[in-house]
This record gives sequence, C-alpha cells and structure tokens, in this order.
Amino acid sequence: MKKNHSIKIPLRNNPYEVIIGKNIINKYKKKIFVTIKNAKRIFIITDTTIKKLHLKKITQIIPKNFFVKTLVINPGEKMKDIKTVNKILTILLKNKISRNDAVFALGGGVIGDVSGFLASITLRGINLIHFPTTLLAQVDSSIGGKTGVNSLYGKNLIGTFYQPNLVICDTIFLSTLPRRELIAGYAEVIKYGIIYDKNFFNWLNNNINKLLKNDSFQMIRAIKRSVEIKKEFIIKDEKDLNNKRALLNFGHTFAHSLENCTKYSKILLHGEAVSIGICMASKLSNRLGFLSLNNYLKIKNIFYNFGLPIDLEFLKKIKIQKKQIVNNMIYDKKNLSGKLNFILCKDIGSAFVYNKVKKESIKKSIN
Ligand SMILES: NC(=O)c1ccc[n+]([C@@H]2O[C@H](COP(=O)([O-])OP(=O)(O)OC[C@H]3O[C@@H](n4cnc5c(N)ncnc54)[C@H](O)[C@@H]3O)[C@@H](O)[C@H]2O)c1
Repeated sequence: MKKNHSIKIPLRNNPYEVIIGKNIINKYKKKIFVTIKNAKRIFIITDTTIKKLHLKKITQIIPKNFFVKTLVINPGEKMKDIKTVNKILTILLKNKISRNDAVFALGGGVIGDVSGFLASITLRGINLIHFPTTLLAQVDSSIGGKTGVNSLYGKNLIGTFYQPNLVICDTIFLSTLPRRELIAGYAEVIKYGIIYDKNFFNWLNNNINKLLKNDSFQMIRAIKRSVEIKKEFIIKDEKDLNNKRALLNFGHTFAHSLENCTKYSKILLHGEAVSIGICMASKLSNRLGFLSLNNYLKIKNIFYNFGLPIDLEFLKKIKIQKKQIVNNMIYDKKNLSGKLNFILCKDIGSAFVYNKVKKESIKKSIN
C-alpha cells in the first residue's frame, strides 16, 4: 500500500485535494505554495498548545519573501465564538490583508471552524489551507467546507459553506495528541462505518487494538477511508440541501444538545458527545422498528470497546434533565418548519432522514 494518499474532492466550483500521510509537510511544500501562488501574506491561526508543539513545522517551510503573522488563541470550544472571529478579523484588516493572501489553519476542529469562517467573510473570501492536528479534524472538520462558530442559542448556528484550497493531514501531528482527544476522534470514524460502509465498520471492529496503539499504517488507512466516505456525501450535496449530506450528522442532534447542556466545556468533548449521541440515535432507530437489537448492541459495543462513553452515566456528576436535552434540539439546523428532523439507521452501513419522531420517543432513547 502507498505511504501517502491524495484524495481529490471534485466539487464543480471548488475542487481541492486532501493529502494524507506521515511527515508530509516538507514533501508537499511546493504544492502548498503553488496553491496560493499570488499570496504575499500568510496568517497562521492556531492555539497556544499547538503553537508550542507544531508551529515550527509550518513556519520553516514558508519562503522568506512572505509576510507571516501568527494569531494564537486559547484552546477549547469556548473560543469558538463571534468575539474570537471579530478580534482576528480586525488584525487581518489592520495588516492590510488582500484577496490573494492566505489563512493557514493549524489546529483541531475549533481552529478549523473559526479559520474557515474568517477566511470566508474576510474580503468575501480569501485562500484557506487546513493543517488539521487532531484525528477528528483530519477525518471530518477540515473537509467539506462547513465553517462556523457557536452562539448562546446553540452550536454552529453562525457560519458559512466555504471550501479550503488544500488540506494536509499529517499524522505526525497526532503523536502529541492527548489520548482522550485521539479516542474522541474515532467517534466520527466509526460514524462513517455506521452510515455508509459496513465493511469499514467491521474492519474498525477487528482493528481496535492496533488503532488504539497508534499503528501508523492502520491509522492512515482509517483516515483515508473516512475522507473517501465524507467526500461521497459532499459531492452529492455540497450545501446540505437535499438530505444527503445531512446523514453525516447521525447522532449529532443529541450530541449538540448534550454539548449545550455541558456548556461546551471539557467535561464532554465533541467526539464523546457524538459517541453518546449515536448510541441514542441507534436506540431510537431500534425503538421505532428500523434497526435490529443485535445491530444496536453492535454499535454500542464498538464505541465502548474504543473507550468512548455510550450513555449519560458518563455525565452523572452533573445533573442533566431529559427535558433540557429535548428542548435544546428545537434549535438544531436540521429542523425544517418546526419538525424535528432525525437521522436514523436501518442497518449498519445505511442511514436515512426521518421527520415523524415524537418527543416521547426521543425522551425514551435518552439514557
Ligand atoms: N466543520 C465541520 O464539518 C465539523 C465537523 C466535526 C466537528 N466540527 C467541530 O470541531 C470541533 C472539535 O474539534 P476537535 O475535536 O479537533 O477539538 P479542538 O479543536 O478543541 O482540539 C482539541 C484539543 O486538542 C488540542 N490539540 C489539537 N491538536 C493537538 C496536537 N496535535 N497535540 C496536542 N494537542 C492538540 C487543542 O489545543 C485542544 O485543546 C467542534 O467545535 C466541532 O463542532 C466541525
């Protein structure tokens, strides 16, 4: 098997490449600068943790003739808000950013979502290259062009669709990722198996130990297949208009509500919320007669065996009421005309949108 992989995302107006491999930043230096060939200024957006660990890997490949400014925010979901965007935007404009210039997003999903949103609104759109540093960002958030920040009313409610020019998934970044963050990233990887690819689900199930031991070969394989699957959904429905891309949100209606209940704090990471959310959505699918009990249990078990939380037991120290979880769902972006739009699954490898779910059934799936 090849060491590095290039996956083309062939969108009509914004085609781009996702490159996956280990220690690849230097190797793809030329491609990076050809992609932004008219840029004179590069604004690197990162957080304090990643700056210490990985910033040099990026700055050392930038030719001397570029103006480079690094903008560093504190880590964490709480920074993903409009205030952060406004602060950085002011600095970009003060430094006379032009439309040919580029933002380099060096970080996890928070940095990627903030940077993508910024890149989309600055001068109505500037170049954007993602260097995702978490597993979750490499398999999910850096691909597909969803950008945005949270609001008091819920997660990702302020945002745009804006595709990057290039994504470099270098697994060397993952060597410093805390174990809890790494495991959280696997929630989205497992999701791809459940919604689209039963063989991938089974492969993940059979390789849990190797993946959790950071076996580079298997990790790259998992990232590559995840990106390929996400690509299938994006090319069919780039802007989430025909219910195809919505399937990527399997479990996320519950997850986003739980994150809101925990106030986007470290108590519950996004991937952990997705893991619990998928178990709840699978239980709901089973309750409504779509998913067999055997498959529901298989789904719960794979998350459990990866070391991910599968129910509210994980949050027992804080009191969350079922009513609150359900009420938060009203703000979910997937809802149309007041109806709760749910993603359910009927088999491992097959998901669909369903809008006839009653509040009582939702409540009974929360445990
Ligand atoms: N846009 C999308 O399509 C999309 C999809 C999925 C998730 N998301 C968003 O992504 C966010 C979650 O992303 P995340 O899980 O990457 O979390 P994150 O961005 O908060 O990063 C997690 C933590 O890991 C640290 N970190 C990052 N890389 C590191 C490294 N290599 N070594 C050591 N520490 C490192 C960060 O400083 C941070 O503290 C959420 O806001 C979620 O809504 C967006």
